[in-house]
Amino acid sequence: MGFVENLKQKAAQNKKRIVLPEGYEERTLRAADQVLAEGFADIILIDDEENIRKNVEKWGLKNIDKATIVDPKKNPKKAEYANLLFELRKNKGMTIEKATQLAEQNLYLGCLMIKAGDADGEVSGADSATGDVLRPAFQIIKTKLGNSVVSGAFLMFLQNKEYGENGVMVFADCAVNPVVTAPQLAEIAVATGKTARVLGGFEPRIAMLSFSSKGSAKNEVVDKVVEATRIAKELAPDMQIDGELQADAAIVEAVAAKKAPGSNIAGKANVLIFPSLEVGNIAYKLVQRLGGAEAIGPVLQGIARPVNDLSRGCSVSDIVKMIAITADQAQEN
Ligand code: ACO
Repeated sequence: MGFVENLKQKAAQNKKRIVLPEGYEERTLRAADQVLAEGFADIILIDDEENIRKNVEKWGLKNIDKATIVDPKKNPKKAEYANLLFELRKNKGMTIEKATQLAEQNLYLGCLMIKAGDADGEVSGADSATGDVLRPAFQIIKTKLGNSVVSGAFLMFLQNKEYGENGVMVFADCAVNPVVTAPQLAEIAVATGKTARVLGGFEPRIAMLSFSSKGSAKNEVVDKVVEATRIAKELAPDMQIDGELQADAAIVEAVAAKKAPGSNIAGKANVLIFPSLEVGNIAYKLVQRLGGAEAIGPVLQGIARPVNDLSRGCSVSDIVKMIAITADQAQEN
């Protein structure tokens, strides 16, 4: 069975409520229809109910009756959610008036529903910029206990099955944190290892990447990766983590034998941790475009409840996949 089929099957075993705040958006509505037909998650659509019904008819969708529709303007829980937001953010200057306005905005409402326990996860971004999806999630849902930073991982399905875990690798951070400290990088490594376990279904072998392997170069940015490796090993003694490693030493055994002899993961890493967002974001796109890999993500990790962001160029099938991923992450919570 393929990766996505596995995710769907797992999701169906313990169905979760996934909220889609962009209920007005065609690909989102079509994806919702498909998920409801397949029955692996419950769907909550946010938007003007009349508008949704009109579009359902226009696009000939047959399964949306099984979704719960939350109309932001007519939502009976509007005051409750506004109060929740006010309480969460009053120390940051939130007023009840502002909270009441925000509780009517689709992206805030989705996160408030999750915080209130009325939904288990969210998928959005087909029509919104990354920052607009992430900001309410960071403000309302916040990080998981023991985490201080949310990051974005990509599951990479490579053409060459000799690399990673039979051709599957997890890359991070490719989406969120422009600049990280060593402790944050360590945390991202451990969170990515957990993502590999939950979504990839394999035991992570984590390489902390740099332009240096085991002291071959000296620079403060290398020192950061060395320090992050030390902290990551302390944070997760049950995970195989090593660094600092160059990308070739991380994934090619013959190179690893020369550059990092004795390393338990060099040459066979299946999780790659990049030293900055610039590197991670560029690397995943190059592997995708030049290497012909399928990239699924970004999958947000380190957040207290799953919220996942879509690319604005996403297809209906990308959204369906992301709903399956989010449902599986919600089971772990
Ligand atoms: N993890 C957890 N919380 C965070 C994080 C994080 N990584 N970043 C910010 N926060 C929290 C802050 O602590 C703050 O909380 P508070 O208000 O309770 O104190 C809140 O989020 C807002 O923080 P700001 O610093 O004001 O956040 P800002 O809105 O400026 O930026 C954002 C956050 C939008 C995620 C920013 O980091 C960003 O733009 N990142 C890059 C995203 C991007 O463009 N990625 C590339 C495209 S994606 C792709 O190609 C797949």
